[in-house]
This record gives sequence, C-alpha cells and structure tokens, in this order.
Amino acid sequence: MSFVNQNIKPLNTRVNETGNLEISGCDLVELAKKYSTPLYVMDKSTLEKMANDYKQAFSSYKNTRMMYASKALMTSAIASIFYKLGFGFDVVSMGEMYILKNAGIDLSHATFNGNNKGEDELEYALLNNIARISVDNFYELELLDSLAKKMNKNQKILLRITPGIECHTHEYIQTGQLDSKFGFDLHKIDEVIDLIQNQYKNLDLMGLHAHVGSQIFETQIFEDEIKVLLKEIRRIKDKFNIELNEINIGGGLGITYVKSDAPPDVYQVADVTIKAIKKYCALYELDEPILYIEPGRSLVATAGVSLYTVGSSKNIEGIRKYIAVDGGMADNPRPSMYCAEYFAEIANKKDEYKPEVVTVAGKFCESGDIIIKDIELNSPKAGDILCVYDTGAYCYSMSSNYNGVLKPAMVLINNGKSDIIVKRQTLKQLVENDVIV
Ligand code: LLP
Repeated sequence: MSFVNQNIKPLNTRVNETGNLEISGCDLVELAKKYSTPLYVMDKSTLEKMANDYKQAFSSYKNTRMMYASKALMTSAIASIFYKLGFGFDVVSMGEMYILKNAGIDLSHATFNGNNKGEDELEYALLNNIARISVDNFYELELLDSLAKKMNKNQKILLRITPGIECHTHEYIQTGQLDSKFGFDLHKIDEVIDLIQNQYKNLDLMGLHAHVGSQIFETQIFEDEIKVLLKEIRRIKDKFNIELNEINIGGGLGITYVKSDAPPDVYQVADVTIKAIKKYCALYELDEPILYIEPGRSLVATAGVSLYTVGSSKNIEGIRKYIAVDGGMADNPRPSMYCAEYFAEIANKKDEYKPEVVTVAGKFCESGDIIIKDIELNSPKAGDILCVYDTGAYCYSMSSNYNGVLKPAMVLINNGKSDIIVKRQTLKQLVENDVIV
C-alpha cells in the first residue's frame, strides 16, 4: 500500500467514460473549460487524507503539535481547512499572519519563523499574541526583547539552532548544515541563554527549534536531528539548571514527483521520530518534551495539479520537439530554480494513445522556462489540456507576475464539486500599484 506522499497522483484520479482525466468526480477538461487555464486545482480529499495520516501517525505521542508550514501554500481557504483539521501554523511573514487572521484564525495557533523578521512583523506578532516566536539570531533577540518590554509583555520563544546535519536534497533547500543563514550555531547557545537569563527579561525560553531541509527521503535524518536537540537540552540543563520542554523539528518529508523518487511514508517518519525521542530522553534522563512538527510540502503537494492548454510546438528534426503551454516559470518556478522534475499527462483523449516524447516549455521569455524535459505524452496538439501533477506545494506560493502574466486561479474540488478559492488575477490588479509621474 502506498501513502499520499508516495503517489504521483491525487486520490481518486481516473479516466472517466468520456475519455478524460477526472479527479474526485471532477472532469479536468470541464474544469479547464469552466475556469480557463492555467489553473491550479486542489483536491480536498487528498489533502485531508494526508493531514489525517499525520495526525494518526503521531497519535501515540500525545504531546505532538502539528503546525502546517504555510510557505508551501497559503490562501485563506487552505488555512481554514487546516485549522478545522486541528493544525496550527508555521508562519514567516506579516503576509502569512494576515492571511491567517483573514481566515478568522487567531495567531495563538501560530509559530513565527524566519532569519530576518522585521520590526513591524515582530510587533504585529506580539500585538496578536502569537504562540511562539522562533528566534533566529542575536539581532532579533535584542529587538524582540525591547519590543516586548515596550508592550509590557512576555513572549514565549524557541531558539532556532543549526544542528550541523546535511541531508541529500537540492543545495538550495538544505538548511541544517553548518554553513547556513538560519539559526544559532550550537557553540553560541550558552551566550544566548546567558543573555535571556540576565538581560532579556521579557523573553521566556521554552525550547529549541531546527529544520534540516526539504524533500527529505531518509528517516535517519530525523533521528540525528532529535539527538542533537535533546543532547543540547541535557547540556543546557546541566549548565544552567533549566529543563527546556519543547522541541520543534521543522518539516521536510519528501514526496514522489516522478517514479524514481522514493520517500518514506509518514508512519515511518513518526515511528523513527517517536522512538528517537524516547531513546534519547531515556539516555539523557529528560522528561519527554512537547513535539512540534512543521510539514509543508508533504501535506499539500500531491493534492494539487496544474492545468494548462497546449499551444505552439516546434520540432527540431532529430533533436527535440517542444510543445508550449500557456503558463510556466511564473506559476511554477521549481524546474528552473531547482531542476525539479514533474510528471504530466494529456487530460483529454485518453481513449486513444499515441506516445510521443516531447519537452514541455512554458510561455515565458527565457530558454530555461521548461516545465518537463523529455516526457512521453499522448501526441500533444494545440488545444489539448495538460495536467501537471504534484504542484500543490511551492508553486502558487512562489508564483510571480514575470512578463506581466497574470497569476492563475485556484479551485478546490471535492466530491464532484468545484469552488474557486483564489480568483484569477486581473489586468486591473496588475497596474493597481503603479504610479505614473
Ligand atoms: N519549517 C521550516 C523552518 C522551514 O524552513 C520549512 C521549509 C518547513 C518547515 C517546511 O518544509 P517542508 O515540509 O515543506 O519540506 N521552495 C522549496 C522548498 C523550501 C523549503 C523552505 N523551508 C521548494 O520548492 O522545493
């Protein structure tokens, strides 16, 4: 049996009687007709299944707090769905905090992360009673304490540390290694605690936070990370006589984008995590801490697909055939940024199959705007609908208006029903902030 993050396609993806691809009872060609393309489609049942698997997998460790990493995909509707599922949130900007509030969610359900939080952002977080702030550096420590003092408040904080662990993922999405812009080096922690105990009286230190990277396939990484965190907590206890009772291990579980990807399932990750906590708490004689986890990609990626319409094509005899679609690097920058790979299918004419190897190009003015290099598709022609899988994470949230192209709409599908959850951007919105002088 494979789990959501190990599947390329959303649950309930099939070819229907008309020969079109269908997800959760919604015909993708009909969706493209109704809402136009490019279109982000999010399948609610796939998202909910993964979220519930996370909850189930960690249920034996009662002190687990699930914090959805909003950076993967943040819209008011998505926030509201995760909130109803019992998730809290990892937020990294004023914008993400504002979206939460727009969805009617109190910031007492959120942790604020980031390596250069602005004064205005910290102030906003404090004003709105954010649950935790994961302090990343000395500059922030001082700034946050002074803001909290001004507001006559005490703020609960975690310390973001750099655990010195390297994982085998793309260099740009590794974060735990020593040479990283994030967090305090382990040898700086004593200095930080000294400052908190003696100088920064408006900060209450609750625990330690780390994140080793994203699109992780090795469960061992999580054990290594927990060992580092608990070993530090023991050392801090010995030296300062305080026992920190919270660890936040970040996110990172990978997903299957293409057949060769082999991520573990969430039950394997939970098993390794919980066993590691028990093992090292026993070894270091510590109480079992509250565990925060912050998954992003694995919760939303598989639930999302992008629909495009095929337009022009170019055949370079003996070299390559390009087909171009009506979107590309502005709605999905991952292939050009990280050489990320995707799987796709033509959503119509599934009853006849004439394979053809093509390269799917976007419409943006860059040679690097390639969505998929060399994929076998069903003889794509102008007007066909292309479905690119696994675009639920880090696509909409990293989208841009490059080349003046409007951001696509997003629909949520569920049981044969579809609802717009993000409207397509308009030309008027594109120039809304422009000022002619
Ligand atoms: N917690 C922290 C502190 C993080 O920095 C991140 C991701 C997460 C949690 C969630 O990690 P996830 O479960 O999604 O792997 N744009 C890149 C990914 C950047 C991840 C940044 N931090 C991509 O498209 O692959």
